[in-house]
Amino acid sequence: MTEFVTIRNLEGSEADLCRAAEILRAGGLVVFPTETVYGLGGDARNESSAKKIYAAKGRPSDNPLIIHVAKPEDAEPYAVTCDLYYRLAKAFLPGPLTMILPKKDPIPLATTGGLDSVAVRCPSHPVAHRLLELCGFPVAAPSANRSGSPSPTCAAHAKADLDGRVDMILDGGDCEIGLESTIVKIDGDTLTLLRPGAITPDALSLVCKEVNIADSVLGQLKEGERVLSPGMKYRHYAPASPVILLDGAPDAVLRFLQSEQKKKPCAILCYDEELPVLKNERLFPVGARDDLAAQAKILFHALRDADAVGAEIIYAHLPPKEGLGLALYNRMIRAAAHTVRTIE
Ligand code: TXA
Ligand code: MG
Repeated sequence: MTEFVTIRNLEGSEADLCRAAEILRAGGLVVFPTETVYGLGGDARNESSAKKIYAAKGRPSDNPLIIHVAKPEDAEPYAVTCDLYYRLAKAFLPGPLTMILPKKDPIPLATTGGLDSVAVRCPSHPVAHRLLELCGFPVAAPSANRSGSPSPTCAAHAKADLDGRVDMILDGGDCEIGLESTIVKIDGDTLTLLRPGAITPDALSLVCKEVNIADSVLGQLKEGERVLSPGMKYRHYAPASPVILLDGAPDAVLRFLQSEQKKKPCAILCYDEELPVLKNERLFPVGARDDLAAQAKILFHALRDADAVGAEIIYAHLPPKEGLGLALYNRMIRAAAHTVRTIE
């Protein structure tokens, strides 16, 4: 049985959050909101909790989990920190940045998918923050979706995927950012971006001179290629209907969409500006063309909704690769299994 708890304000919810912390301490699973997406939490020190997380998600157990702590210094017993960690923490934490560091013994290999490194994150969402404070131990949490479906950006999505598979779901409303955290690997004074998110490469460059972007962020992995972030090798965020990304001049893409609507039952993730000129059927607005933050917030919701209508094809725009666009691009090329169509 999954208990569903709505958190309206932090003060009135202390008793519920204490109970959630007790469930986690006892080895149970709790879904909680963060500023990025909802997380499926378990005690990061507890091997059996880690195994339960993988089972609940239906996720391969070589895909490592992120550990969540209330404050950057709370990671000390669990990860080998360094100067760059604290410089990045000062600039961006609490917030949507995850850093990969060498792991220490209290974190079992079951949590890190067998790796000797560990991913550390301090979320800024008040509910996540208070829950982590009450726990006083690190909480391992992947996104609270079943493996292969988009990350949940509201409690209803987590419930749709995990009802009956976790002990408690904390509903803290819609996630502010809507895309998972930026992940970087720290090597001395160098950063490698493994997953783009709301903290952009430009923002990271203000703190660290050398920021490399892993090939997997933009490109398709070759067969058998080694990946720095194991999660990147799985087909992610993928609706059941095939997704095709459209690249080209705005007018040309719009004409193409208008003509496709006449030919087949397609779903379209469209920009707000396109709404009045497309046939009002299976349209899923994702925000204004230039408002990347709005698009980030809506994208996973729109993908779930578009998938639910059972269209033959889902069309969407190819996002730009600059700024926050890089995070959208990275999620969309995976949702589309790298299918991009150029419209002349
Ligand atoms: O915003 C987020 O990061 C959300 C919220 C809940 O915090 N969490 C999240 O977790 O997106 P998950 O498990 O869905 O994605 C974590 C990614 C995976 O691709 C995993 O492979 C990578 O982080 N990862 C975790 N530990 C790693 C490690 N030690 N080395 C390399 N990659 C790692
Ligand atoms: Mg995930």
